[in-house]
Amino acid sequence: MLFTGGTSGIGLGLALRFAEAGNTVIVAGRRKELLDRIVAEHPGISALQLDVADPASIAAAYETVRRDHPQLDVLVTMAGIMQPEDLRDPGHLAVAEATVTTNLLGPIRTVNAFLPLLLSQDDATIATVSSGLAFVPLPATPTYNATKAAIHSWTESLRVQLAGSSVQVVELVPPAVRTDLMPGHADDESAMPLEEYLTETFNILQSQPDVREVLVDRVRFLRFAEVEGRYDDVLALLSGRAS
Ligand SMILES: NC(=O)c1ccc[n+]([C@@H]2O[C@H](COP(=O)([O-])OP(=O)(O)OC[C@H]3O[C@@H](n4cnc5c(N)ncnc54)[C@H](OP(=O)(O)O)[C@@H]3O)[C@@H](O)[C@H]2O)c1
Repeated sequence: MLFTGGTSGIGLGLALRFAEAGNTVIVAGRRKELLDRIVAEHPGISALQLDVADPASIAAAYETVRRDHPQLDVLVTMAGIMQPEDLRDPGHLAVAEATVTTNLLGPIRTVNAFLPLLLSQDDATIATVSSGLAFVPLPATPTYNATKAAIHSWTESLRVQLAGSSVQVVELVPPAVRTDLMPGHADDESAMPLEEYLTETFNILQSQPDVREVLVDRVRFLRFAEVEGRYDDVLALLSGRAS
């Protein structure tokens, strides 16, 4: 199993759970010091330095995995960034561009690179990572929400295009979870504790092998806001103007 965005937070947590369950796990990310520490603390886990914003880095990672782990059968495109943007400040454009490059082009380029290897296996899985904010936006992070909505849509098409192949497609849709994704997020009492999220997610993946969207209970509030007629109220809540 290869986890991009495996150096911290949800990616590292899930990687450790799957490694404990006996899977061969590779964690990938930019921060070399974290990769070194993970390998030192968890013998058996492999590490790979990868910047998903850099096509050359993705190509190099693919060559390394193809050589060292030709049996790779699970790709989890977890890498992502989340930053606030003030759309009236022209400076927001740099954040918008970096967010699209990492959160949207990153998974598209990574899947593009690894798909031939995954299709060559008898049974394989691609797991993408969207967000509850794909379904109702948090106005403080406009481009982040937009990339996650795009990942949801792209994943739906990927699943249809790969139907009948050996590659299954699953989408993780996390709610707010206490990680370092944004400053202060790890201490946000309204966000789900990381270990609780990992346990619920791991249990869904283990017990529902054909699941299309991994929805922990806490994300249903966002995921089904529109179909349940609550969209405007939830958007108002996320805008800080709850009625
Ligand atoms: N926590 C939440 O509330 C929440 C909710 C919904 C969805 N999600 C999604 O869950 C995923 C994981 O986030 P998290 O909450 O676990 O936050 P996190 O701890 O900040 O993890 C983000 C991971 O992405 C990696 N990453 C970022 N940019 C990268 C790049 N250019 N190349 C390679 N790796 C990169 C980071 O590693 P390096 O810095 O070492 O590169 C890190 O491992 C993200 O896609 C996020 O959007 C999180």
